[in-house]
Amino acid sequence: MGFENLLLQSENGILTITINRADKLNALNVKTIDELEAAISDFYDDDQLKAAIITGAGIKAFVAGADISEFSNVEATQARKFAERGQEVFADIENCHKPIIAAINGFALGGGCELAMACHIRVASENAKFGQPEVNLGIIPGYGGTQRMTQLIGKGKAFELMMTADMVDAQQALNIGLVNHVVPAEQLIAKSKEILGKIIGKAPIAIAQLISCINAVGTGVNGYQIEANAFANCCRTEDFKEGASAFVEKRKANFQGK
Ligand code: COA
Repeated sequence: MGFENLLLQSENGILTITINRADKLNALNVKTIDELEAAISDFYDDDQLKAAIITGAGIKAFVAGADISEFSNVEATQARKFAERGQEVFADIENCHKPIIAAINGFALGGGCELAMACHIRVASENAKFGQPEVNLGIIPGYGGTQRMTQLIGKGKAFELMMTADMVDAQQALNIGLVNHVVPAEQLIAKSKEILGKIIGKAPIAIAQLISCINAVGTGVNGYQIEANAFANCCRTEDFKEGASAFVEKRKANFQGK
């Protein structure tokens, strides 16, 4: 399927989704959110694809936020729908059973920071900058930022970042746990692929179960119960038999996702 605002490329089972509105610093307009949803849905269903990277076109921005020109005049009912729509698509990313890395190549502001936080792992280039500048506009994050940032970096730092609208650079983001790695820009995709390569080598069902357990944190459900059930689900798989045999036989496991 062709997209207007996304570039898709796949190699060795890894899909790279590039948000491609560089002239608008890859701001997320409605069309881009719709396309992102479709691309993620295709990714869910394509068994040839084992992992994904989300990044931004150009050297300046990952995503500089939701497209301000599209929502500057909305009334409250539309605004709620607007937020719920972004939340829904970002939840698809977070709840995907296959790993998704945000490769953050520049500004990750507002909805861009929220998109990065919806991914399972974040790798930033040295020139990346992060922030939730919504209060500068008289609004607050609406694509899950208040929840995910608080979980990622803790309440005190989340309050400060979101209330001041301050930007942090990649090194500060690393220090506060907002990103997992910082690398030179030219190594951004390679580092992301290196991490995904490791994950792809593990048992896919175990990875999927891990994702649902970790995502259960903060949702009000009993995460320990979810974990015990997920553990049992893994123990039922062919892959567990293969992993245990491979350990005993001192060889690399060959997981089939069954
Ligand atoms: N929505 C819509 N358009 C945006 C945008 C956004 N979130 N962020 C950047 N753009 C557009 C600019 O309007 C500009 O378009 P134009 O050339 O047609 O005028 C283009 O992208 C380049 O941005 P510009 O502001 O000229 O670049 P800069 O280097 O001077 O500043 C930023 C970069 C990121 C600091 C600045 O663009 C910015 O503050 N963006 C908004 C960030 C924000 O508040 N995001 C949260 C939204 S809820």
